[in-house]
Amino acid sequence: MSNQSDKILSLLIKHRDSYTSGQAMADSLGITRAAIWKAIEILRADGYDIESVKAKGYRLVGVPDILGEREILPGLRTTVLGKRIIRLSEVDSTNTYASKLAVDGEPEGTVVIAEHQTAGRGRLGRKWVSPPGLNIYASIILRPKVPPRDAPLITFVAAVALARTVRELYKLDAGIKWPNDLLINGRKSAGILTEMSAEPELVRHIILGFGINVNMSRDDFPEEIKDLSTSVMLELGRKVNRAELMRRFLEEIEKSYLMMIDGKRAEILNEWRSLSVTLGHNVRVTSLAWEKAGFASDIDPEGGLILEVDGRYETVTSGDVGFI
Ligand code: BTN
Repeated sequence: MSNQSDKILSLLIKHRDSYTSGQAMADSLGITRAAIWKAIEILRADGYDIESVKAKGYRLVGVPDILGEREILPGLRTTVLGKRIIRLSEVDSTNTYASKLAVDGEPEGTVVIAEHQTAGRGRLGRKWVSPPGLNIYASIILRPKVPPRDAPLITFVAAVALARTVRELYKLDAGIKWPNDLLINGRKSAGILTEMSAEPELVRHIILGFGINVNMSRDDFPEEIKDLSTSVMLELGRKVNRAELMRRFLEEIEKSYLMMIDGKRAEILNEWRSLSVTLGHNVRVTSLAWEKAGFASDIDPEGGLILEVDGRYETVTSGDVGFI
C-alpha cells in the first residue's frame, strides 16, 4: 500500500461509520485538499462508492468485489498472515503455485489468491470446481516450527477458523464435517487442502489451501454436486464481499495458528468438537479402498475420527464422511 489513493482508502475504511473531512485527511497525510479530491476520484473510477457531504467530508459506502491487496489489507489485524498477497487472474492451482514459491524461499504468511483455477485440486484426488470471479481460491505459506507429526493439526485450525468466520460474520449455521469440510445448513460450502514438505524432524513448509463457495448461484454448480453443495450467497440471500470474508478469515486463522504454535492442541480440538456436525451421528466413512459405518463418538488427540462399531471403537484417519 503505497500511493495516495491507497492511504486514503485506509483512512476511509478505518472511519467507515462516520465522515472524514478532506482537511483532516490532508493534514494526516501531509498533502493538499486538491490531492485528496484527485485521489478520491481515482478510487471512484476503480469502483469504490464514496459519498461526499458538504461540511462533513467523505464516507465509504461501497467497495468493489475485488480480491486484492488494496481491498484486503486495510484494517487487516494480523501480524504474519497476509502481509504479502499475490493475486493472479488465472492459475492451475494456488496450492501448486504457492508450493513453488515456498521451495524458492518465500516467507511465512504470503497468500496466493486466484480469480480462477484451471486445475483446482480437492482432497482424495478430486478436482475443485473453480469458476472465475465468484469465489475464494487461496493458499497460505506457513512455516511452523513444529515436528511433522504435529502438522496435520493445521487442517483443524483452518476448519475451526472458517466455521467461526462464517458464523460470526453472517450469523449462518456453519459447522465442520470431519475432517475439515465447512457445511452451511448441511451443505458443503468450503474445503481445505493442506500439503506439507518436511524432513524427518522438521517441517519445511505447509501450504494451507482453501476454496470457499462465496457468490455461486445454484446453476454455477455442476450437476453431480449441485444437491450437496451451497455458497454463502445462497444461504444468506445476498451477495457477499469476498475481501471482507478473506480478511476476517485470515485473522481467525492467525489466532488459531498461534494457539497451535503454542502447543494448545487440546484447546483447538475442543473448539473443533464444539463446531462439529459429525460427532454424535451415525456415519459411513468411505475411502478408495474401504468403507466403514458406525457412530461418530469423538476425535482422538491426532484428529482421527473414533467410530463405535458394534460396541467396539475404531479410529479412521482419512476418508469421506456421509450421514446415514
Ligand atoms: C476439498 O476437497 O474439500 C478441499 C478443496 C480445496 C480447494 C482449494 S482452492 C485453493 C487451493 N488450490 C487448490 O488447488 N485446492 C485448494
